[in-house]
Amino acid sequence: MRTYERAIVVGASSGLGRAIAARLAASGCRVAAVARRLERLESLASEAPPGRILALRHDVRRLDDVPEAFDAACRALEGLDLVVYSAGFMPPVGPTEFDTPKDRQIVEVNFLGAVAWLNLAADRFLQTRRGAIVGIGSVAGDRGRKGQPVYNASKAALHAYLEALRNRLHGKGVTVATFKPGPMRTEMTAHLRLSRAMDPDSAARIVLSKAHVSGEHYLCLSHRLVFAVLRNTPSWIFRRLPV
Ligand SMILES: NC(=O)c1ccc[n+]([C@@H]2O[C@H](COP(=O)([O-])OP(=O)(O)OC[C@H]3O[C@@H](n4cnc5c(N)ncnc54)[C@H](OP(=O)(O)O)[C@@H]3O)[C@@H](O)[C@H]2O)c1
Repeated sequence: MRTYERAIVVGASSGLGRAIAARLAASGCRVAAVARRLERLESLASEAPPGRILALRHDVRRLDDVPEAFDAACRALEGLDLVVYSAGFMPPVGPTEFDTPKDRQIVEVNFLGAVAWLNLAADRFLQTRRGAIVGIGSVAGDRGRKGQPVYNASKAALHAYLEALRNRLHGKGVTVATFKPGPMRTEMTAHLRLSRAMDPDSAARIVLSKAHVSGEHYLCLSHRLVFAVLRNTPSWIFRRLPV
């Protein structure tokens, strides 16, 4: 794994973001750990080597607060090398449910919050001409399935935004990596019965091993192969699947 000195991890209070922040801190990096649940961030800080984790309470849906939170993190870290946006929201959605307020929250957390944080990182890294941007997407963003229409759409939007960012920043010393995890055992999926799911620490290890590699990354070879097929599967087949 490449080592980083100063990183921001948004969505660091649980699951994949927490595991990424913990691994970064263990490697010697100072991490601004961002999420709403301050007590979770403080417990993460208490488990890491002293002084490595700075807990920063922030709700990514409050887009107007992002510039101040970003600046506070950069000031406290005295610089920035890596930004990871891992915040995500996937509430249970019924098969005949069309709930716009719920859908709005999904888009705000998964997409608009990412744009607000990563735009600032892109702008800063463009000036310093170095830095790594990581967005956590999902295999769910590869197609429009019945079960989670807006979660899927929010991740597809995030993938397209990150691709555009990657193209804009190409050749300017800034890398942009999109990760598309499959199922992971985290709070997000605690209500689901998952037969094969990755543990967040293994996923974090893979993410950090390629965090500086521009491009789209699946977390395992089987997903890369299966989704190469699924991306080209006609939609009428999805109509016959339960979710
Ligand atoms: N679990 C899976 O199977 C799976 C599969 C593919 C992709 N992913 C993606 O992986 C990423 C991490 O998910 P996870 O599984 O680790 O989920 P998780 O354990 O539920 O963690 C979600 C994180 O997002 C933060 N978050 C949610 N809403 C927020 C808000 N309004 N403001 C600030 N932070 C907020 C949470 O912090 P607070 O609640 O403390 O604010 C938490 O730290 C997400 O982007 C998810 O979409 C997950």
